[in-house]
Amino acid sequence: MFWGSGCWFCAQIAQSVEQETENLCVAGSIPALGTMCFFLRFSLSSFVRCVAMSEELENNLDHWMETIAEASSISELEKTKASLLGRSGIITTAFKELAKLPIEEKKNLGEKLNNVKLAVEEAIENRLSKIKESIISDKLKSETLDITLPCISGSFGGSHILTQEMRKVRDYYHSKGFLVLDGPEIEKDFFNFDALNIPKHHPARQSHDTFYVDDFDEMLLRTHTTCVQVRALMNTGFPVRMISMGKTYRNDKLDATHSPMFHQVDGLVVDRCGITMGHLKNELKKFISMFFEVDDVEIRFRPSYFPFTEPGVEVDCRYKKEGGKLRITKDGDDWLELGGAGMVHPNVFKNCGIEGTAQGFAFGLGLERLIMLKTGISDIRNIYDTDVRWLRYFSSLA
Ligand code: DAH
Repeated sequence: MFWGSGCWFCAQIAQSVEQETENLCVAGSIPALGTMCFFLRFSLSSFVRCVAMSEELENNLDHWMETIAEASSISELEKTKASLLGRSGIITTAFKELAKLPIEEKKNLGEKLNNVKLAVEEAIENRLSKIKESIISDKLKSETLDITLPCISGSFGGSHILTQEMRKVRDYYHSKGFLVLDGPEIEKDFFNFDALNIPKHHPARQSHDTFYVDDFDEMLLRTHTTCVQVRALMNTGFPVRMISMGKTYRNDKLDATHSPMFHQVDGLVVDRCGITMGHLKNELKKFISMFFEVDDVEIRFRPSYFPFTEPGVEVDCRYKKEGGKLRITKDGDDWLELGGAGMVHPNVFKNCGIEGTAQGFAFGLGLERLIMLKTGISDIRNIYDTDVRWLRYFSSLA
């Protein structure tokens, strides 16, 4: 009990004064006195109600605390909260009554009311966090994961054959300590042509059937991944051992052997000295053996011309036709053309700002062509086909 007998006493007085003033007012002898009595009566009745309510609040505090502590769900707790602190809740109503009292009573009763309110709020807050905790721990208990169960089988899709082969090439060169670099597909003509010893008006530019970017004279869609070699020479220190792989573009009509977009892999190995065509041949042989998954590979070089190599060569590989299928083998009776290669032209080093001696080899191969030879696909358009049966078949190859 917060109030004790003092309050009870107050309440008694208030009640008797209320009675008195009522009698006076009924008599109605002096109007001013009537008005005064009205106010006196008003605040006294409020005081009485407030004291009674405050007593009720304090008397009931233990009971409420118990109700709060026993609430087993958030909704149950919300209900209790509304009945106490809601718009017409018991505590809120007591505060409304309190507001009608003169300042002195307000102070006394207000403090007590406030204490009750704070205690109730704190208890509700504590109970709420306990309920939330138990909800989470129940959930954790009921949602345990059995990682030993077999997985749900089904079709999860697979990677495209180009992606598979590019990953294979990338992993192979990574394992040999090469950098696998990428460059922009919208390239400056300096990197795609000028630096590679193909200045403006050089006839080799015509053979590349370039897509230029409207309104930007010097910008184009890269016609080969060889442009990434320029960026590597300008940015990585010696020795350089890198490959670049990705999309390239040429203004070709789509047919069985051409596509305006295709993929290339370019390699470059450069040091101050001691790099020869022999190293190039060995590197390409190993790469072809890895790519086609055969041990007995024989390759040959045929003289060719690329402005960025001196000498430049065309790379051929021995193969056999067996039951309409190609097989890369040393015992083959014919040669397949795989791509271009050569020793890096001194002008390329100069254009890339390399001072002092430098020597190196480079090669560039079309990925679609390699994939077609490996899988027996005879039409490049099939590689970009979206027929799900085709995609499924080749995604399960690797
Ligand atoms: N970039 C050439 C092309 O697209 C291929 C090539 C030839 C790349 C010789 C090279 C190279 O790096 O050394 O036809």
